[in-house]
Amino acid sequence: MSKKTLLVTGGAGFIGSAVVRQLIKASDYNVVNIDKLTYAGNLESLKEIADNPSYKFEQVDICDKENISRIFNEYQPVGILHLAAESHVDRSIVGPGEFIQTNIIGTYNLLECAREYFNTLTDKSQFKFVHISTDEVFGSLGDTGYFSETTSYDPRSPYSSSKASSDLLVRAWYHTYNLPIVITNCTNNYGPYHFPEKLIPLVINNALAGKNLPIYGKGDNIRDWLYVEDHAKGIILAFEKGVLGESYCIGGHNERTNLEVVQTICRILDELQPKAVGSYLDQITYVTDRAGHDFRYAMDPTKIQTELGWQPEENFDTGIKKTVQWYLDNQEWVQHIMSGEYQNWIQQNYTAR
Ligand code: NAD
Ligand code: TYD
Repeated sequence: MSKKTLLVTGGAGFIGSAVVRQLIKASDYNVVNIDKLTYAGNLESLKEIADNPSYKFEQVDICDKENISRIFNEYQPVGILHLAAESHVDRSIVGPGEFIQTNIIGTYNLLECAREYFNTLTDKSQFKFVHISTDEVFGSLGDTGYFSETTSYDPRSPYSSSKASSDLLVRAWYHTYNLPIVITNCTNNYGPYHFPEKLIPLVINNALAGKNLPIYGKGDNIRDWLYVEDHAKGIILAFEKGVLGESYCIGGHNERTNLEVVQTICRILDELQPKAVGSYLDQITYVTDRAGHDFRYAMDPTKIQTELGWQPEENFDTGIKKTVQWYLDNQEWVQHIMSGEYQNWIQQNYTAR
């Protein structure tokens, strides 16, 4: 029997590329990666599976109705894992427009195209729309407590508001049109192929380049960190076993202050690639705080653990060591981003095919 097909949006991004690599390596599905290739999309992250016959790439904007409809009809997928988004909070503060466009309008367009396609299916039991979202939709915690599936939405940044809006649209398409959906809300991810604008890859990169390691405010804001491969496993599990209409919170109980995260990276680098003089800790610099900076995120993942059997393989201590080592071993990937060459690579290696 031929393999079933899954669509993945945002498959050239940080988490999407981990999902695509896992799906192709497990070889249970054909995968069609739908990605516009914004600054955050990097096909070099998919080099190891790019030539696999089960993998196809479609450079398409999720807001493009004609092409998204064409893709649904052409590939006849059993589901869609929707990760494409504008994802960086600081960018959303400087320019929220793209966040509204992609995260809200783009999700609306995908839902409409999925609904039209779903209505044409004779066997409707197979299809599922999995929407990948964030813990940031729940707002900000104080010193105690955890987010869970029953926490009220209280987004506070343009990014988290746009994600919350998209979650609500997805739920509405379930209740109103019976579109079979599942939502996942995950904590902060880290790991290989992370674009060096987010805290962890930025700090590794700046440390190695001898630059300042910027800490917003006092560095006491807390994030709950999950290794990206564990998140990707949770997303695939949510597709395979998630109950329709439900949402699943994903996190591994790895809360750290930002200062602790940066100090940990510096200590690992001091061990793996010591500086001629001094420690990477000397590069830490306190800078102006982010506007509306959420204080603390922390997740209670009991539901996905008990109902779907999800368990993370990495804790922060093991995952961060792997991550730092990966960046040391993959400087070419980083340098291509820093020089802008990754976008030329896409032109030369992909469009020529
Ligand atoms: P990313 O910024 O690394 O990648 C986003 C991808 O989407 C890129 O490949 C980009 O080219 C593509 N894209 C953007 N706009 C598009 C459009 N209009 N049409 C088609 N493709 C487009 O993001 P990420 O960190 O991999 O996050 C993926 C998803 O997971 C997002 O929905 C995000 O909200 C969610 N999420 C992220 C985190 C995290 O810590 N990074 C945590 C929880 C949830
Ligand atoms: P980030 O990686 O941008 O993820 P998010 O804002 O989605 O949580 O930031 C993680 C934390 O690190 C957040 O509290 C902001 C802080 N931060 C810094 O202190 N310095 C930086 O240069 C960056 C990018 C983030």
